[in-house]
Amino acid sequence: MKYAILNGKIVNRTEAKVDIEDRGYQFGDGVYEVIRVYNGKMFTAKEHMERFAKSSDSIGIKLPYNREQLTKMLEDLIEKNSLKLGIVYMQITRGVAPRNHAFPSAVAPCLTAYTKELPIPVNLLQTGVKTILTEDIRWLRCDIKSLNLLGNILAKQKAAEEGCYEAIQHRGQEVTEGSSSNIFIVKDGVVITHESNNLILKGITKDVILRACAGHHIRVEERTFTLNELSQADEVFLSSTTSEVTPIVAIDGKTVGDGQPGPVTRKLQALFKQEIEAQCGVL
Ligand code: PDD
Repeated sequence: MKYAILNGKIVNRTEAKVDIEDRGYQFGDGVYEVIRVYNGKMFTAKEHMERFAKSSDSIGIKLPYNREQLTKMLEDLIEKNSLKLGIVYMQITRGVAPRNHAFPSAVAPCLTAYTKELPIPVNLLQTGVKTILTEDIRWLRCDIKSLNLLGNILAKQKAAEEGCYEAIQHRGQEVTEGSSSNIFIVKDGVVITHESNNLILKGITKDVILRACAGHHIRVEERTFTLNELSQADEVFLSSTTSEVTPIVAIDGKTVGDGQPGPVTRKLQALFKQEIEAQCGVL
């Protein structure tokens, strides 16, 4: 993509460079968002701006732009890059300062954003994906969409090495979330997913799914569930901005249900598509 945003300005992608003493580069001292674009429009933009503001607030970075300004900036970038189907990535770091763990005084935060073309993963949505289980070794503020993703990266790499799409993380017996997704199980028609607390990221896709359930009399329990419940589930699926509602058909080599995406997952995929089309137009 030809253009990017550097500190509020649209610049040529090749000019969007940051200093080696940027705290995002040295400490992962910043937060980010990934927003889906369908038909040139951002999906759930408001929710992403709110989460971005919340994440930056929780690590004491003061956003130099309000949500409307940020939205406008990203809309302009999407237009400049003629992006129709893809994502916008946006991050803010505490800024550039000599390396010292404590916050530097009077430093300007560094905001960057770029777009990327990305098709809808139709095959995966149709056939489902394989996953592995891995202990959740991350910190206790997984609700912050932090640039520090080592735990997530190591989990995803383990999945990739086993030919799997995602790693389902658990703390002891309790399932938390995927390395870059939220995890749901379906048992006797009830959709169960981890409550949005400090142990998981409050997924925006997750919230769209829960609203769809509420509107269509699908029972939901937002609570922790165990590895045992996961292995006994009728259906399992994951959700994220880029993966939408993706069926999980195997966990650690063991088939989920009959190995096919289940009826509740299919229904939620259809409802999710309806919500996309309501916000962004027919796909
Ligand atoms: N990941 N949990 C984690 C750890 C995530 O990284 C993500 C998203 C989610 C789902 O959140 P949402 O539905 O708001 O995308 C849950 C993004 C897409 C990423 O890092 O690429």
